[in-house]
Amino acid sequence: MKASAPGKIILFGEHAVVYGRPALAIPVTQVHADVEILDSSRAGIWIQAPDVNLHVELNTLPSDHPLAAVIHNFLFLFRVTPFPNLEIKISSTIPVASGLGSGAAVTVALTRALSSFLARPMPDEEVNAFAYEIEKLHHGTPSGIDNTVVTYAMPVYFVKQFSSPFGRGTRGEGIETFRVGTPFTIVIGDTGISAPTKESVGDVRKLWEADKTKWENVFDRVGKIVEEARKNIESGKWELLGELMDQNHNLLQEMTVSSPELDRLVSAARSAGALGAKLSGGGRGGNMIALVNVNLAELVAQSMLEAGAQRVIITQVS
Ligand code: MEV
Repeated sequence: MKASAPGKIILFGEHAVVYGRPALAIPVTQVHADVEILDSSRAGIWIQAPDVNLHVELNTLPSDHPLAAVIHNFLFLFRVTPFPNLEIKISSTIPVASGLGSGAAVTVALTRALSSFLARPMPDEEVNAFAYEIEKLHHGTPSGIDNTVVTYAMPVYFVKQFSSPFGRGTRGEGIETFRVGTPFTIVIGDTGISAPTKESVGDVRKLWEADKTKWENVFDRVGKIVEEARKNIESGKWELLGELMDQNHNLLQEMTVSSPELDRLVSAARSAGALGAKLSGGGRGGNMIALVNVNLAELVAQSMLEAGAQRVIITQVS
């Protein structure tokens, strides 16, 4: 039994989305997490995740380990007793702590593989709600955008739900897909610096707690950028997104979540002809994105590599 889930990238609105403003994100199918589950002849639930050098039996993992949390929560939710004997193979091409949703993708792929293998069907809405609970364990106060894009694998206009994020078994309010009027190209550049989302989200929270009026105003400005970006994407005026990306990046710098390495890649992309660029995701490291005319994609990607990107992905948003 195999299951897979894509990576994701946030186009606009990260961080402000934690405070109820909208954000836009898309799946990135060039990278993915894959999980295979097989019956095992040895006792126990054995996990093999060679990418992170893990070959262990479930019970030897601390209970707050991300993989243990998914498996335990799943078995508990569906009252699976006694525990079955399983071999679980996990691999992922999504770089960890880079803003591409690696944690959410592993959670979603693993949940779907368990659901199929153990014949406990889960509609997308339930997978999403389940993955959100796991995200909360690791990220403190996540908005839920990562698990949502990864679960539905489609472009998402997302607004966090404060009371009950996504009712179990119901399609979460605040999740809408958006139409892409004319496909456009972005280049994703990875600084190679792993930066846990929890930390940058926590630091923005400290700023907000110290001066709520100021930061609510900044988040409002991000929210307006997101609404305008959505309109432009839907009406096919994608060239106008460049200026909006630059504005969004400036506001993220103000939130202190950029870094010299991210700024260097953003500048390199702009100098090579990108229409705009910004960091994407939690920031401080991880990835940035640049909007390009398709014929300049290779050139911009090359400039980003020369400016220190560890890898680049050219992707079409459609
Ligand atoms: C992380 O991919 C996006 C953030 O906005 C955090 C979140 O929404 O949970 C930084």
